[in-house]
Amino acid sequence: MKTYAVVLAAGKGTRMKSDKPKVVHEVLYKPMINLVVDELKRLGVDETIVVVGHGAEQVEALLDDSVTVVYQREQKGTGHAVLMAKDILAGKEGTTIVLNGDAPLIRAETLQGLVDYHNAANNKGTVMSCDCDLSLAFGRIIKKDGQMTAIVEYKDLKDDMRDITEMNVGEYCFDNVALFDALSKVTNNNAQGEYYITDVLGILHDEGQRIDAYKIPDLSEVGGINDRLALAESTKILQKRINSKWLLEGVTIIDMDNTYISPDVVIGQDTVIEPGCILKGQTVIGNNCHIGPYCEFTNVTVKDNVEIKYSVISDSVIESGTDIGPFARLRTDCHIMNNVHIGNFVEMKKAHFGNGSKSAHLTYIGDAEVGDNVNIGCGTITSNYDGKNKSMTIIGDDAFIGCNSNLVAPVNIGKGAFIAAGSTVTDDVEDDAFGIARAKQINKPGYAKVLEEKRMKIYEERRKK
Ligand code: UD1
Ligand code: CA
Repeated sequence: MKTYAVVLAAGKGTRMKSDKPKVVHEVLYKPMINLVVDELKRLGVDETIVVVGHGAEQVEALLDDSVTVVYQREQKGTGHAVLMAKDILAGKEGTTIVLNGDAPLIRAETLQGLVDYHNAANNKGTVMSCDCDLSLAFGRIIKKDGQMTAIVEYKDLKDDMRDITEMNVGEYCFDNVALFDALSKVTNNNAQGEYYITDVLGILHDEGQRIDAYKIPDLSEVGGINDRLALAESTKILQKRINSKWLLEGVTIIDMDNTYISPDVVIGQDTVIEPGCILKGQTVIGNNCHIGPYCEFTNVTVKDNVEIKYSVISDSVIESGTDIGPFARLRTDCHIMNNVHIGNFVEMKKAHFGNGSKSAHLTYIGDAEVGDNVNIGCGTITSNYDGKNKSMTIIGDDAFIGCNSNLVAPVNIGKGAFIAAGSTVTDDVEDDAFGIARAKQINKPGYAKVLEEKRMKIYEERRKK
């Protein structure tokens, strides 16, 4: 039997006080909508439909074609939102999960529990519920003689319903055919004048179909995010969940509260993460690495036995045995090969940096191919930009670039070449050649003393004035 999912993400999220739609906001550097959709993927749902409305383009831009997007032009309620998926789903046999897009901490395991419970009991509709504080404005689960009969929204509560603690947390499971049959009967005759998805359960019950609530122990996965305070609290919950997972997988995290690992990041065994690290995007770190303190990585692949301190790296690959930092910045398609040393205040961009090569201090390497076992002296710069175009610098294996060299691109430094310190290299240097490009030194015997006397004289004259 097929499983479908409908994610409700058309609302504005007024209390976020933002120009962005709510589900675009990130929890631990991942947009809410992607957190929800990726959990549904992990659950193995056959087809996911995302209902968008407010800021539709911004939400759509975050989604790939593994999901189908439908539009709810006017937000007339959660039931109306599900109805937007009618053309795709109505009439299909299967089970449909409906979930609020603003509860991004939901886990596939918990949804699996809901689906299993729903299927085992042969229900037509099952709502996930939780015993909550009475101050919450959630819909209440109405039961008669222990049997669930309906959900009543907070604003529609009657006085004798106010002490019901079992509440709707906004995740549902339906028989797909029954869902769309019942949806066509939902009206907006209620306190908010909206079409509620929650009414579907009462309608099914009134028709003699089986409905029930699947109770979970706490709200940590389904609290829902309505403002930035809840967003920050959710970040902390997710941070603890992710850090705990990696600790149990054999990663050492020195300070759980000061380590931010985004949900898609992968870390190998025996790697140590020092405090102050932020690991984002599709970052993958190998085994036995030492990362931090204070590193920020975005989409970085780090192989095994790598050590990186106090560095900012994005969209790059670092091969094994390499050490980087403190205070290096590598960005945009750097490929740093094995057993490399990159030291303090080195910046690289679009650079291939060969096996065993070194750039120990104060250097900029951009748009460059650096061979194996090259030594880049302190203060070297690839002058890759002429104000209009970017050009390549190519440095062959075993070359030695003396300190404070300018390599004016496009330029080729041959294998085994040796560039004298302080050179400004504008022409290619052939293999094994010595390149020197700076003014010739002149020594004037005794002239230091003459200069000193001149200076003293000027000083005396000024003092007299
Ligand atoms: C909903 C439930 C409530 C439950 C609570 C749990 C209804 C009627 N009520 O209330 O019983 O306790 O969730 O958090 O469903 N949305 C749309 N289109 C719309 C309206 C909403 O896509 O026209 C989306 C929102 O973007 C949001 C989700 O549906 O992601 C929930 O909507 P929201 O207005 O926050 O519902 P609640 O009032 O929280
Ligand atoms: Ca809500």
